[in-house]
Amino acid sequence: MYYPEELVEEVRAKNDIVDVVSGYVKLQKKGGNYWACCPFHNENTPSFSVSGNKQMYHCFGCGVSGNVFTFVMKYENYSFPEAVRMLADRAGVQLPKVEYSEEQKARENKRARLLEVNKEAAKFFYYQLRQPHGAVGYQYLKKRELSDETMHRFGLGYAGKNGAELVQYLRNKGFEDELIKEAGLANYSEKHGLMSQFWNRVMYPIQDINHRVIGFGGRVMGDGEPKYLNSPETPVFDKRRNLYGLNFARTARSGNIILCEGYMDVIAMHQAGFTQAVASLGTAFTPEQANLLRRYTDNVLLAYDSDGAGVKAALRGIGILRDAGLTGKVINMRPYKDPDEFMKALGKEAFQERIDQAENSFFFEIRILEGQFDMNDPESKTKFHREIAKKLCEFSEEIERDNYLQAIAEKYFIGVDNLRKLVAGYAAQTGLAKPVERPKSGIQAKNTPEENAKRSQRLLITWITDEPAVYGKIKKYVSADDFTEDLYKKVAERLFSDLDEGRFNPAGIISTFEDEEEQRQAAELFNTNLPRLETGQEREKAFHDILLAVKKNSYEYYTSKLGTDVNALNQVIAGKKALEELAKTHISLE
Ligand code: UTP
Ligand code: MN
Repeated sequence: MYYPEELVEEVRAKNDIVDVVSGYVKLQKKGGNYWACCPFHNENTPSFSVSGNKQMYHCFGCGVSGNVFTFVMKYENYSFPEAVRMLADRAGVQLPKVEYSEEQKARENKRARLLEVNKEAAKFFYYQLRQPHGAVGYQYLKKRELSDETMHRFGLGYAGKNGAELVQYLRNKGFEDELIKEAGLANYSEKHGLMSQFWNRVMYPIQDINHRVIGFGGRVMGDGEPKYLNSPETPVFDKRRNLYGLNFARTARSGNIILCEGYMDVIAMHQAGFTQAVASLGTAFTPEQANLLRRYTDNVLLAYDSDGAGVKAALRGIGILRDAGLTGKVINMRPYKDPDEFMKALGKEAFQERIDQAENSFFFEIRILEGQFDMNDPESKTKFHREIAKKLCEFSEEIERDNYLQAIAEKYFIGVDNLRKLVAGYAAQTGLAKPVERPKSGIQAKNTPEENAKRSQRLLITWITDEPAVYGKIKKYVSADDFTEDLYKKVAERLFSDLDEGRFNPAGIISTFEDEEEQRQAAELFNTNLPRLETGQEREKAFHDILLAVKKNSYEYYTSKLGTDVNALNQVIAGKKALEELAKTHISLE
């Protein structure tokens, strides 16, 4: 932990979650909770709830949940220590100055210095573009129809022909050569000493979500090679986890995000009012970036180049989006090459039309596939139909698969029953796809025995957090050892020992975990969606079932450990007894 646990807890306790969240979104009181449209996914009816009692939030739409720290972390993209500092500040809690280990301090310090040197370099390039000798850069950008306002908004700049100037400027600002080099801003050569990495290029500073400059792309003016020179990866520049333009796009609230290939596309789109456009950073779109996007939307429109390479990249992108549980659609840019050219030629109304007509990614895949076959040749056509069947097998959900099957059959004039037979044939050979794992969402549950066991454990913990009084009634049957996931067990230990001492503080338990992923999982434990049941009898039955499932799983778990774990025998004996008793015991929830 960066800060002592008691201090973290003090900060949390002094920042009422309802107060803090209402600083970001408009909350409305309904029943015991407060409600809003979820700031972490797009929706029109509120399913984001904040509980003053639990001091937690939970979205019934996208499944996010957590305490006041995780809210601020998610909203502001802060690390845990950053969130603690901000909330400490807000509540006037003094934090100790020396809280880092030497190593952490050095690392944080390095990151801070890299951000500073990038910021200074960006200033330098920005200034150069607006100087007489930067006129070539300025004219270039003007010719590409960028307004002064757009150039300013994106902080565009120019790296001059004299490669020593930047280095001199940065040295004068107090930056060491070593750091300038590490930031990827300059290279050392025997002949010239330290010289700017970027030379006679227009400069695009790349910003993180908090508008901090983390790297640069430099474009040659004209036809030189390489067209773009990008900063190398550094401790602050992770190309897999950032997206160009996301610092603006994250607040666009347009109901979708438009994913482009190029920096220039993003800029042209923003200039035209499509501020939801982003692009990857000189590399292909990554699963990490898909996860990042999922915080803001579940609807991603691909605006990739219309050439062969662009289509290939789009097909890859679709797969990545699908794996992340996002809906992908493809915007048709023809007859233009990319969004930048399209915008210049036809303008924003025409582009909006293309957005509205964006093609479902599955249809897009099939259409591209079609191009590889000769529909006049029966053999080739049959192969095409087989490929369709194979692709349909990738849908794990029957309804979805069948809906697509019918739509495709109609579109390509294939008999529905024939296609269904083909699909069944393939499914028999290769099996249907397993549902994709969607770790951050609470809505898609997998149905493996392990997942079911975990789910009952989560349900039991949520139930106890919602109705702490039931704990007294079941404590003789369950203990933390019944939670067979390591993290669940830790949470249960804490929750039960709190309750034994007459305390109740689930939100505080979340922050006892250091790792952000663990915090997320702990929060999820307190916010599993409980079954909605009408009568008291139904509720008691459901609760009893959950309790039995947890005990049964625990019993099986320890049985499998007999002989390898000394504790197992006791657990098995006690578990058997508890199961027998529970089978004939009625637990009242009144
Ligand atoms: P494009 O060539 O489509 O770039 O490459 P663009 O943004 O449309 O550039 P303009 O319109 O010609 O100015 C797409 C992206 O691929 C990366 C860059 O991120 C670029 O924006 N790229 C391209 C490089 O990193 N290096 C290159 O040499 C070329
Ligand atoms: Mn372009």
